[in-house]
Order: sequence, then C-alpha cells, then structure tokens
Amino acid sequence: MYLNNQPYLHTKNDRMNCSVHSDYHQMSEFAANEILSVLAANPKATLCLATGDTPLLTYQLLVEKIIRQKIKISQIHFVGLDEWVGVPHTNPGSCHYFLHKNIFTPLNVNLKNIHLFDALSANLADECKKMNELIDRLQGIDLMLVGIGRNGHIGFNEPGDAENNFAHISQLDPLTIEVGQKYFTETIHLQKGLTLGLAHFYAARKVMMMANGIKKKEIVKKTLEYPISTQVPATLIRKHQNAILIIDKDASGQE
Ligand code: F6R
Repeated sequence: MYLNNQPYLHTKNDRMNCSVHSDYHQMSEFAANEILSVLAANPKATLCLATGDTPLLTYQLLVEKIIRQKIKISQIHFVGLDEWVGVPHTNPGSCHYFLHKNIFTPLNVNLKNIHLFDALSANLADECKKMNELIDRLQGIDLMLVGIGRNGHIGFNEPGDAENNFAHISQLDPLTIEVGQKYFTETIHLQKGLTLGLAHFYAARKVMMMANGIKKKEIVKKTLEYPISTQVPATLIRKHQNAILIIDKDASGQE
C-alpha cells in the first residue's frame, strides 16, 4: 500500500502526501527536518505544535538541531493547539507544561512569542476569542503539527465537531478522556478542552500530521481510507492543500 518515503501516495479518491519511515526515530528525524525547513524559509514563522507522546522525540531532535546549528528563532511565534480545561499550567500533564519543558525552556524562547490557552480562565469564550484575534494579527499559522487521537481527533476537534470552527471549547469524547489520563500521574477529572478549530487546520499554510506505533495502525488506516468526514476528523487532512502524513512502519500496517 505504501512506498517507503515516497513523497506521494495515491488513494482512491484523492492525492495524499504520505511519508512512511522504518521506525519512530527515523520519522521524528524527518519531522524535525521538515520544521527546520519551515524556519529556514521564514524566520518569522508562526508555529502551532501539538503535545503528546507522538511528537516528543521530534521536539527533542529539533531543539538539538536548533542549538547545534545556531539557528535564530527570536522572531518565531508559537501558538497553542489545545489545553485541558481546569488543569493548571504547573501540572506536568498540561499542554502548557509539556511545551515549556520540551521546547520553550531549552530554546530560551521569549515569553512574548509564546501564546497558549489559559485553561483556568474564568471566561473561556474570551480565551478563544483572544486566540482567534491573535492568530489573525500574526497573519495565520505557517506550520501546524498535529497528532492523531485514537478516535481520529485533531487537537481537541472530536468526531462530529463542526468543520468551520475556529478556537472553541470542546466537549471531550469519552475515549479522549480515557486515553488522556496517561499524561497525568494523578486521577484527573477531564471533561472539556480548549482547542484551535478545523478552520485553523484548513487555513494553516502547512500541516504535518504524525502517528507512530501499532496502537495507531487502525486510525491511520481509517485516516487514509474512510470517507472524508468530521466523523473521523483526521480524514480531513486529505482535503488540505499542503499537508503531509508522517508515520512509522508499525502505524502504516506494512508487514
Ligand atoms: C495534543 C493533541 C492531541 C494529540 C493526540 C495524540 O496537543 O492535540 O490531539 O495529538 O491525542 O496523542 P499522542 O501523541 O499522545 O498519541
């Protein structure tokens, strides 16, 4: 079904840019280099980076490369993709904590260039409005890197959520709540998330979607083969004009 590292894979109905790698390390190396090429082309780029297990090694490699190659990132802006409502940023399971620990602190990113959701805000609708306005002021997102939830969610855009949403409050899917516990050492009550919407996903000038491991094999297959629909949000990548799906062999289902 796939060709290793072939830039284009043709599926039945549409054209899909898919990059398959032998293992997690190879795909992370590839993804880190893709991010570097965005930074090289535009030193004022706005990046939106997912958290989670999938992109962790990509970020570690990216940080190493930026430091080793002395790449200037002082004009790069970072916008948050999502956050768990009610979880403080001091909690190691929060998206906020993850991004600071793995990217912003090691790269010494100026706080004025970091724009994350405040999940403790008394006015969550206003948080979303502020994020939408900020992204407009930054003239859109140059690179959005997303993972795939086991239910196909993108950020916290859950199955069935509207395609024309910008930042919004999301009612988390039961599977997201169950799987989300893995980021926390304590049992935590998760119910809602703040997330950029699918309208931001479509508008991003480049999208990288990543998945690795056997546990993602089924959802990757759906992403590539199911009808394009918000019922499996990840399938919407097949409508994006400049997107790449980056996966390892285990997630690809290749023998
Ligand atoms: C996290 C996010 C989520 C994850 C997805 C996959 O910021 O937006 O949509 O990308 O749930 O999570 P992992 O990578 O942990 O399997």
